[in-house]
Amino acid sequence: MPLGFVKPERTPAGASATDGARCVRPGDHICDMHELEDGGRGVRFMLTAADGLRTAFVVRHAGQVYGYLNECAQRALELDWVEGEFFDAHREFLICAVHGARYDPVSGACIDGACAGRGLAGLPLEISGDEVRLARELSVPCRPADRNPDTASTQE
Ligand code: FES
Repeated sequence: MPLGFVKPERTPAGASATDGARCVRPGDHICDMHELEDGGRGVRFMLTAADGLRTAFVVRHAGQVYGYLNECAQRALELDWVEGEFFDAHREFLICAVHGARYDPVSGACIDGACAGRGLAGLPLEISGDEVRLARELSVPCRPADRNPDTASTQE
């Protein structure tokens, strides 16, 4: 594992309806871009996908905002090692706290680790001025086994 951390308690992705995050529907405001620091803390929220309530997040990288389901491509576990912390120590790649799989923040593709050949499920985002919104319902497969980097999409 590239970083020396252990998340004390793993949260199964999508099972945590009690995590306090609000549920975002298509067209809803997620956050403002200025709230997101480049390579810094992301904003977590919940959304309804075809197979139920899921946790998701947006982060900022190189001036752009990207959103994904908060679910590792290896196992259906949340990525963040501390709530809202998705980047590695170099603030360059998204990283899963469980076994250290790393993902390209632009495409969601796995670049290193147990997620090889797969990727994160991208969210359709709509950026209007400073506002980040969920553009439409999630249509990508939610289960990691059904996913590959080609399904990851971000801004439209
Ligand atoms: S569950 Fe994410 S790397 Fe293993």
